[in-house]
Amino acid sequence: MPDLAWINGEITPLAEARVSFLDHGYFYGYGVYEACKAFAGKIYALQEHMNRLDRSLRALRITPGRSREELEGGMEELARRSGYETAFVYMQITRGVGKRGPEQPAGAPVVAMFATELETMTPAAWNGGIAVITLPDERWAHPDIKSLNLLPNILAKEKALEQDAQEAVFYNAQNIVTEAASSNVFAVLADGRLVTPPLDGHILEGVSRLMILRRARESGIKIEETYFTRAELAQAAEIFITGTGAEIIPVTGLDGVRVGGGRAGEWTRRLYEDYLRAVRQSG
Ligand SMILES: Cc1ncc(COP(=O)(O)O)c(C=O)c1O
Repeated sequence: MPDLAWINGEITPLAEARVSFLDHGYFYGYGVYEACKAFAGKIYALQEHMNRLDRSLRALRITPGRSREELEGGMEELARRSGYETAFVYMQITRGVGKRGPEQPAGAPVVAMFATELETMTPAAWNGGIAVITLPDERWAHPDIKSLNLLPNILAKEKALEQDAQEAVFYNAQNIVTEAASSNVFAVLADGRLVTPPLDGHILEGVSRLMILRRARESGIKIEETYFTRAELAQAAEIFITGTGAEIIPVTGLDGVRVGGGRAGEWTRRLYEDYLRAVRQSG
């Protein structure tokens, strides 16, 4: 009897269970999960697991479109049919299947579960215990890695869209500007300096950022890789964001206040035109 999965109400062998590449859980980690244990087909602490699941779903504003009873029934059916005395029952609910991006996906949330055998330690192994190490808690403080750990980014984008903005610019605990949810940030500060935050492990090294800096250096345009604050950004004469998809986009509104008179600035335009030329020359 193979291990089984339950995907959107359909039971299949676990090894054959499939979800779409376009699942927002796959793109962004945009989903929640519960890992439960069942004994003789009954989930241990089921209500406690379901209460936590409800809280997680609410926090990410995912409505699974299936009743709690249906989800509980699915898990218990898998536990029962697994035939294991003690089963590991896993359930995850993702935001759904749709175009990559912050918009609500067209498809309904995807509910997926499986049951496998819960492998417990032998008494001898348990008596021997385990070894652990200590590490600084830096979950997940690695924006310099272009990883799929994008939940904070996509939630920030969603917040921007809700406020009639298209992108969110992050600042840290010291009010220093870092980067945006899916792009790097450049500014012409009030004193005329062209700046972008430095590569210090707290931003992604955007390829667009890299190419813009390289071209600027080659043509004698000074762009400083330096820190600047949110307050300095608010006073900037020009702001633009950069990214492979975005290319170079002028920022003309920041937290509801107009930037640069509401139009693309001179430096932004000049660097954009040069960027487009560079892309064309590469072909
Ligand atoms: C967080 C973040 N910063 C910056 C960028 C820009 O990188 P690139 O210019 O390589 O597209 C991206 C692109 O997706 C990003 O996700």
